[in-house]
Amino acid sequence: MTAPEGVAGVFDRAADTYDDVGVPWFEPIALGLVEELAVQPGERVLDIGCGRGAALRPLALATGPTGHALGIDLAPRMVERTAEDLRGLPQVEVRVGDARAPAVPAASFDVVASSLVLFFMPDPPAALRAWVALLVPGGRIGITTFGTQDGRWSELDGAFTAYLPPAMLDARTSGLRGPFASDEAMEELLVDAGVGGVRTVHGTVTAAFRDAEHYLAFTWSHGQRGMWEAVPAAERPAVRTLLLERLDPFRDGDGAIRLEQEVRYTLGQA
Ligand SMILES: C[S@@+](CC[C@H](N)C(=O)[O-])C[C@H]1O[C@@H](n2cnc3c(N)ncnc32)[C@H](O)[C@@H]1O
Repeated sequence: MTAPEGVAGVFDRAADTYDDVGVPWFEPIALGLVEELAVQPGERVLDIGCGRGAALRPLALATGPTGHALGIDLAPRMVERTAEDLRGLPQVEVRVGDARAPAVPAASFDVVASSLVLFFMPDPPAALRAWVALLVPGGRIGITTFGTQDGRWSELDGAFTAYLPPAMLDARTSGLRGPFASDEAMEELLVDAGVGGVRTVHGTVTAAFRDAEHYLAFTWSHGQRGMWEAVPAAERPAVRTLLLERLDPFRDGDGAIRLEQEVRYTLGQA
């Protein structure tokens, strides 16, 4: 696992194109989480690792002008861009903050949401305990992680493997190991953090790329950017060529490439 500041640096550099290259991905994933959390008007909601607001925006819309939706993220550019995007919603606040120990009062939120962030934490159980402590008694928590994936993702990610330091793996990959390997392990993580009524819901998201160039643009626009940055600049053309070769047989009749990813939502109450 790359140090949190290193992870945030990758997301800071990705922030300007994050979820904005014409591949609906983080938004549909986050919408599934928001739906399960069933936020009511007037509730106080915290989105941990809010990125460009994939969950924060629908959370804020659900709580409405009488509520409060706070998003924190360690990447300043993510915070800046999200604050700009959501400036029309007075209930929204976006701050630079560390998910390992959010600097907000204990027991001050009705809902804590975190979509695709927990696996970046160096100590996920400790982070989760800190998140649960922010909930009022009976408050709800929802965490998104990745489930089973279309094997073609790993074939593509494999083009980077030779360049990656052992500690650095794409979130999609690291997200499938350790406590993130199964529904049961994720549920246990929440139970151990003091969460009750723990349950799992699954969703599926399909990434549709018009062509290989579109896939390549996507890889630079999110956490996978860290994999590109680990490849020396002089060797990037070779990785690109390898990816193009691997993508070619994945094309459908219309030339587009469609890859599926299962998404896991783990939910419960404080
Ligand atoms: C995969 S993105 C998910 C963003 C958003 N939740 C979404 O669904 O689009 C992971 C986010 O976690 C943030 N992040 C990583 N480590 C963090 C930390 N220690 N504290 C706060 N945010 C962190 C990154 O900057 C990035 O915005």
